[in-house]
Amino acid sequence: MKFGHFDDEAREYVITTPRTPYPWINYLGTEEFFGLISNTGGGYSFYRDARMRRLTRYRYNNMPIDVGGRYYYINDGGDVWSPSWSPVQADLDFFETRHGLSYTSITGERNNVRVETVHFVPLETNAEVHRVRITNTGDTPKSLKLFSFAEFNLWNAFDDQTNYQRNLSLPEAEVEGSAIYHTTEYRERRNHYAVYGVNSEIAGFDTDRDSFVGLYNGLDAPEAVTEGECRNSMVSGWAAIGSHQVNVELAPGEQRDLVFVLGYLENPPEDKWESPGVVNKEPARALLARFATSGQVDDALAALRTYWDGMLGAYNVDSGDERVDRMVNIWNPYQCMVTFNMSRSASYFETGIGRGMGFRDSNQDLLGFVHLVPERARERILDIAATQFPDGSAYHQYQPLTKRGNDEVGTGFNDDPLWLIEGVAAYIKETGDTAILGEDVPFDNDAEDSGTLFEHLRRSFHHVLHNRGPHGLPLIGRADWNDCLNLNCFSETPGESFQTTENKDGGTAESVFIAGLFVHSAPDYAAMAEMVGEQAEADAARVSASEMSAVVLEHGWDGDWFVRAYDFFGNKVGSAENDEGQIYIEPQGFCVMAGIGVETGEAERALDSVGEILDSDHGIVLLQPAYTSYHIELGEISTYPPGYKENGGIFCHNNPWVAIGETKLGRGDKAFEYWEKIAPAFREDISEVHRLEPYVYAQMIAGKDAPKHGEAKNSWLTGTAAWNFVAITQHIFGVRPEFDGLRVEPILPSHMAELSVSRRCRGAEYRITVGGGESPGVRVDGVPIEGTVIPYATAGETVDVEVSI
Ligand code: GLC
Ligand code: GLC
Repeated sequence: MKFGHFDDEAREYVITTPRTPYPWINYLGTEEFFGLISNTGGGYSFYRDARMRRLTRYRYNNMPIDVGGRYYYINDGGDVWSPSWSPVQADLDFFETRHGLSYTSITGERNNVRVETVHFVPLETNAEVHRVRITNTGDTPKSLKLFSFAEFNLWNAFDDQTNYQRNLSLPEAEVEGSAIYHTTEYRERRNHYAVYGVNSEIAGFDTDRDSFVGLYNGLDAPEAVTEGECRNSMVSGWAAIGSHQVNVELAPGEQRDLVFVLGYLENPPEDKWESPGVVNKEPARALLARFATSGQVDDALAALRTYWDGMLGAYNVDSGDERVDRMVNIWNPYQCMVTFNMSRSASYFETGIGRGMGFRDSNQDLLGFVHLVPERARERILDIAATQFPDGSAYHQYQPLTKRGNDEVGTGFNDDPLWLIEGVAAYIKETGDTAILGEDVPFDNDAEDSGTLFEHLRRSFHHVLHNRGPHGLPLIGRADWNDCLNLNCFSETPGESFQTTENKDGGTAESVFIAGLFVHSAPDYAAMAEMVGEQAEADAARVSASEMSAVVLEHGWDGDWFVRAYDFFGNKVGSAENDEGQIYIEPQGFCVMAGIGVETGEAERALDSVGEILDSDHGIVLLQPAYTSYHIELGEISTYPPGYKENGGIFCHNNPWVAIGETKLGRGDKAFEYWEKIAPAFREDISEVHRLEPYVYAQMIAGKDAPKHGEAKNSWLTGTAAWNFVAITQHIFGVRPEFDGLRVEPILPSHMAELSVSRRCRGAEYRITVGGGESPGVRVDGVPIEGTVIPYATAGETVDVEVSI
């Protein structure tokens, strides 16, 4: 069952009912100011950091789900409704939400009043703009009252939800003309405030929540709205809101636009005040002046569209299947951009409070983003590298605002360092900017202790080499990619963190996955060593990689698949010897991607085992059989009910590793099948089962052991986005930048006989057509070449590439 449809021309997903199986959201904002917005107007906005600079309040896990947002109410002669359906939930004669690229428009119509709101964050602007277009679609005049609503968060979202003994005395506001200013804590150390303004005269306002809503009412029936009059309340403690009342008279057929702006402003400390106790509003006035007319809004929307045109022009496919094309050309890169911006901080499943930017997550997010805005990827790499410790290990997370490592989580995830190599390699392949390797980057943000970026990579690589266990495999530390495989934790205390507790010495538990990742990253590391003139290091790295491959085949091969790990006691994890958790997906995908056992048959056998044991109708599960009881020696993985999360859920992030592995074996049908099974556009028809947005990936789909097999959770912020983009564009379609040229080596499914791709890389444009031909091979501008790597063209050139397969 579907709850909407794709509009590929407009690059929108059109939702036709407010009652989707879960709130289906979108993101506003491209660089520093962001909003989350659901199909019924729910969500919130923040400047840079969802925890420390949150403008509006949102209550997670609420009843009903998703109440709290930027809301507009209509009082039409006593008939009260919301154009976004929520929060009033009055029936609408027409409802439609269009989630587009960094904007959302929501249209509701009732009793011949049509209200279309478009919400977006203009480029280079720290504000949400909401244009509210009201049309009288009937043949009698309408006399309407429109009310706006935003509830202000007291900046620190965690404190906001916990510290009521203090917070209920803090809220303050100012009102000037039609602009409401949220000034809580501005009197002390904050030099920032929020404004909520409208480009119209107002008939009234409220800044005090209880005056507007009524203490015993909900947002479905605020007293001021039902009674048709704002109270002009000035908040003093309790809860601060912004609400405007605008009275609108409309003749039949008449239309009126109102432009609301909800923004974040900062003053220099010396210019905080206009006069004693009065906030300096100059920057806010300048902001409001930029969006004072509907024409200015049109221009800003057009600029946003051009921005996306530019970015999405970097990779385009025409595959003959509209579902493939809409994933590759629109929604997958869009999600990659969002995950790059948000990491794992703010979604409808991540509260924006708990987690910073992940070291491993951000490096992987880069893989799907680097072709969109390489300069931002560069900056991100340097930020991430600056949180690395001198010994090559890494803070697992860092804070976006301060860009410093997060002490609460600390270090000890032994895969982390290698992801930096993967991220930097992807960046250089895309851009050719080898100079980045020479950038001076601090360790642990300490300006006194720094090294080149290449030095950081060296320490990453050697951290793994120097931390190996009894079988010569890398030690796992607290965990590797699978945060929930905690082999040194042995937790007996309820509530204790599995991920930060480490009560074993850590000297025995080993990870075959890290070994695979090491072998995978080694050739790129060696190539980068050569770029900085370190030939001996490059040679040694290649030797280390082949030794590690041999160790994997000797101690990490179980007979039909790769072993997952060795636990603290030296027992195998992910082996036929085990009762449960006999086979895990991660080492199968990564070892094959790394080329281990490809020539000797183990790779093929491992992926066949994946197909036989782990595959399901909804994707590949993480392990089988799922754990049915708690295993103290394995940790968090065994805490989830079977079929959820890491305990045998379809953890979508690593499905594409298997798909890429299949392309290494030349098995395009299998690769595509795995890609397609979890691709949201292919799951649109079963939205009632999948439940989450059909335009973006979710982190997890319940596995075959779960009662709700096929049901997704945790959409948007997941490494799934980047890896699936890599799998389909670089390995199945086979167009991937390498250090010395653009490789074009499609491994297509048999039903896809022809394909065309346009790829922008290093400023040149490659027009690639793939099809049958008399003899297999690649022609560049009509001339056959050896192999499949096309030397990079000069920026500005257009190159025609024909591939016969
Ligand atoms: C989450 C984490 C990621 C981890 C994965 C598997 O997606 O963000 O870092 O690799 O879970 O545990
Ligand atoms: C939980 C999740 C896992 C995630 C981790 C992040 O353990 O199950 O997916 O990686 O939290 O800290």
